[in-house]
Amino acid sequence: RNFLVINGPNLNRLGKREPGIYGAHTLEDLEEELVSFSKELLLDISFKQSNNEGDLIDFIHEAEGEFSGIVLNAGAYTHYSYAIRDAIASVDVPVIEVHLSNVHAREEFRRESVIAPVTIGQISGFGFDSYKLALQVFHNQQKGETL
Ligand code: DQA
Repeated sequence: RNFLVINGPNLNRLGKREPGIYGAHTLEDLEEELVSFSKELLLDISFKQSNNEGDLIDFIHEAEGEFSGIVLNAGAYTHYSYAIRDAIASVDVPVIEVHLSNVHAREEFRRESVIAPVTIGQISGFGFDSYKLALQVFHNQQKGETL
């Protein structure tokens, strides 16, 4: 089964962007790490990144029928994009919301996620492991191994 990892705005700046918060590794490093992890789990994964809200909405729409699940880091759109929330609600594809940083331990505005209610869950605060944990959840669900 195929899974799609979508990274939103400013995540193409990983490695350069606020390294104290987001770490020194790049988006390319993240994707390489997830490719090797998904091989271990025998999952097929694809990647998309955009800084534009409309592109993220299109990626979500296009995932229907193509992917069994989406791992989504919507960046700051997480906190205010009702359009991305509606896009998630419009498709029959489960979405796991992920964040590198712990959004609950930062500025007040990051504590709200307008997309969380239409996702199957949120994983926040574990760096690249946030994405790996999300893929692990999809893997377990697929094998019927969720406890
Ligand atoms: C982020 C957290 C968001 O608040 C922020 O706007 C980002 C990255 C994270 O991965 O920790 O761009 O989604």
